[in-house]
Amino acid sequence: MSKTILTGVTPSGDNLHIGNYFGALRPLVQQGQAEVQVYCFVSDLHALTTIQDAKVLAHNIQNVVLQYLACGIEGDNFVFFRQSQVSAHCELETILTNFVGLGQMKRMHAYKDKLEKGVDTDNINMGLFNYPILMAADILAYNADGVPVGVDQKQHLEIARDIAENFNKKTGKKVFKLPQPLIDKSIGKIIGTDGERKMSKSLGNIIGIFDDYKIIEKQIMSCYTDPTRQKATDPGHVEGNPIFLYHQLWNDDKDEVEALKARYQAGTVGDVEVKQKLLAAHQKFFAPIRERYAYLQAHPLEVQKILNDGAARARLVANMTVAKAKAALGLSADFVSPERMLGEARPVVSFDDFLKLELRVGHVLKAEAPAWSNKLIVQTIDFGPLGTRTICSALRAWYTPEDFTGKNLVYVTNIPPRKMGESVSEGMILAVEVPGAAPQRFEVDARVPAGTLVG
Ligand code: ADP
Ligand code: TRP
Repeated sequence: MSKTILTGVTPSGDNLHIGNYFGALRPLVQQGQAEVQVYCFVSDLHALTTIQDAKVLAHNIQNVVLQYLACGIEGDNFVFFRQSQVSAHCELETILTNFVGLGQMKRMHAYKDKLEKGVDTDNINMGLFNYPILMAADILAYNADGVPVGVDQKQHLEIARDIAENFNKKTGKKVFKLPQPLIDKSIGKIIGTDGERKMSKSLGNIIGIFDDYKIIEKQIMSCYTDPTRQKATDPGHVEGNPIFLYHQLWNDDKDEVEALKARYQAGTVGDVEVKQKLLAAHQKFFAPIRERYAYLQAHPLEVQKILNDGAARARLVANMTVAKAKAALGLSADFVSPERMLGEARPVVSFDDFLKLELRVGHVLKAEAPAWSNKLIVQTIDFGPLGTRTICSALRAWYTPEDFTGKNLVYVTNIPPRKMGESVSEGMILAVEVPGAAPQRFEVDARVPAGTLVG
């Protein structure tokens, strides 16, 4: 995987509109399809700044999860999860608060806007004030190379970079990668149905995706067109005309679009017909997405599994970053004397550390001895709710692939993926060194389901 990008979406309760889809979601889906590792999460903790009603929040989360999945945020290259299910975000936030000054925080737009609107500070919660620090934690936890941002979020990315730089400088350890803002100029802003401003929920100039037919019909039929045109027989302008911009975006019948443009310019087609064709093309273009939405809505357990798998994969990486940040600050889990810390002491695995290992039963589907290594046995393992993983074990001196295939063995499943030879190992086998004998593996009864937690 060449690089990692990350994005969060706050479950505000709004349905996605076509500006969100073509401006943000589709480019994200395309990145994932192009071998980029995409971390995408529902920032449900961020939502608490404004939503403190359990029913409302649960509903909003469900809505955004279904919409994102339906739009294509699905598959191996996407780690899709809920922020609140990965506690490393909060732990990192607490650490990072110490690496940013009050003055810089007071200059953040969201807070400043409230003050400028005359809101009393007693009515601004600390969640809102600290919002940028939690967002920095979100980004830095995953060593993201890039974060796709709109202009409104640029300041948040700058502060994340400042915090990361400050931490790295003060501790002398390069714990955090500095993320780059990714601004896709090729797409830019999708204009709203007023033909004037960026399409935005708050401006009421949107066209929906998941809304009822009647609503979308109304949004399209009331769209601004060409003000210089009085009647259908007047020659019209196509450039900058939102209905034609929209045809370009989602009408896959390019011949129809070209014919409509020509007739519009010649004054031989009315606005109504152009809009009706646009509406029909909208229904056709978004049909698979709406069908996927309906399917997922009817299969909540499948959605639950996607989110659980996503959170498990996210924890692997985020927990490791937190451990590195803590170690850089002298908060490693081992209680060691300063002399030992400074000396060449061997790392000590404390009992606490050991308890942090997640051990699971894995059912080995396949095992191979690859030609590119003389040590490794590469196993394809079913971990039940965690999905299928590849794990490499340097046990060829003692075991053959046949010793693995079909067995239920115990694996450590919460360590970060690591490149081993030409493969990537997503965990490790639990084995105990036995002097003079083969390392002892732990075999579990075949009836124990794959993925079961051990201990
Ligand atoms: P809204 O302005 O409707 O409230 P958000 O601010 O929640 O939308 O935007 C969510 C994402 O969708 C952001 O990444 C933003 O850049 C993108 N986006 C929103 N509106 C548009 C638009 N009209 N054109 C392009 N991208 C958009
Ligand atoms: N603040 C973002 C929004 O309101 C959501 C978000 C939270 C986010 N954490 C993030 C976006 C990290 C990018 C990266 O849209």
